[in-house]
Amino acid sequence: MDVEALRQQFPALKQRGDDGRPIVFFDNPAGTQVPQAVIDAVGNYYRSMNANAGGLFSTSRRTSSMVSEVRAAMADFLNAPSDEEIVFGPNMTTLCFALARSLAQTLQPGDEIVLTRMDHDANIEPWRRAAARHGLVVRMVDFVEPECLLDLDSLEAALTDRTRVVATTHDSNAAGSVNPIRQIASMAHAAGALYVVDAVQSAPHLPLDVQEIDCDFLLCSAYKFYGPHVGVLWGRQELLAQLPVDKVRPAKDLPPWRWETGTASFETIAGLGATIAYLDGIGRQQGDRHASRLAHLSGRRQRLKSAMIALSNYERGLCRELIAMLQQIPGLYVYGVTDPQRLGLRVPTVILTLAGHNPADIDGRLGEQGIFVWAGDYYAQELMERLGHGAHGMVRVGLAQYNTIDEVQRLGAALDAIVRN
Ligand SMILES: Cc1ncc(COP(=O)(O)O)c(C=O)c1O
Repeated sequence: MDVEALRQQFPALKQRGDDGRPIVFFDNPAGTQVPQAVIDAVGNYYRSMNANAGGLFSTSRRTSSMVSEVRAAMADFLNAPSDEEIVFGPNMTTLCFALARSLAQTLQPGDEIVLTRMDHDANIEPWRRAAARHGLVVRMVDFVEPECLLDLDSLEAALTDRTRVVATTHDSNAAGSVNPIRQIASMAHAAGALYVVDAVQSAPHLPLDVQEIDCDFLLCSAYKFYGPHVGVLWGRQELLAQLPVDKVRPAKDLPPWRWETGTASFETIAGLGATIAYLDGIGRQQGDRHASRLAHLSGRRQRLKSAMIALSNYERGLCRELIAMLQQIPGLYVYGVTDPQRLGLRVPTVILTLAGHNPADIDGRLGEQGIFVWAGDYYAQELMERLGHGAHGMVRVGLAQYNTIDEVQRLGAALDAIVRN
């Protein structure tokens, strides 16, 4: 991967801090920067398409066909069998609340929902609230320290003949741990339950394939994978068609439209189209490098998967360097998978503590030097409490495709300076 060439496409990376040095964006799990093509697509939408969808004049027609094209692109990104299984919404949280509200209406009091303690609250609280309204039982699955990997025994124990829904994240937005989602899907299905995957933090780092995962629903959010603020829900067509939804009467009662309440954010959907085209371009540059793994795919779907494999390989190497650097800093502790041989079990999102230093102070001091990280619980409230860091959370350093080894070294020098005071 030519990271320098790729960085040139992200105008935000040209920003400089007070000391004149380029800003280092390690706040990626909270939101990534976007390539120029995405900025252009949003602007271009307003210049040449701005209208509501469904009209008979040119700008409205262009809006409708743009949305259809982006649905098809997103279907390729997720390897969805049908474009009509792609639902756009404001963000993952809103879509998950809608999904939980809907599914819960089909359940009986005493039915059970299985969740995990490593999830973002956006994949916990919607289910807890729906459960409270419908008399459902929530079971929480634990994870195992220090690698913060899901405890599959705890999952097995949580599944009963009353389990109707299993909802887990693909990977943790804090410790970065990746869940064995194919295995979880088959465990959930064997118990007679539907499986919902939160892929918000995997979409930027790993190839996604809803057919291979064999899940029933999957949610993600474009601003985490180099796009604008728009959420995506994928669901099996028959479920999207049959589940109860809150919709206004004149709106089409067919998937995906029956799930898309009100007028969509067309400009961000246009931007998402440019994001997928950008990733497709990375795949094109890969040529047939990953051909043996991708022989069963073709066209854009193949290129998108190829791009995600390339990005994931690059990020894994950088993550290895990041963790090795962090572990040399006295008093610094990294949670999650750190064994260089096991980095396939994590994405490059790393949480840490530094003895004697408050996470918010570290965040502030790094920010003054133009190094942007995050401090707190990033809504992974259950995980932070479970690890005993509910009060102040931890510092999170999250890598993305445009980060470099020089940036990792700059972070190392800045943390060294903090340790030495
Ligand atoms: C794992 C995970 N799930 C869900 C969300 C919520 O996504 P959104 O901001 O699109 O509602 C986030 C946001 O950080 C997340 O990291």
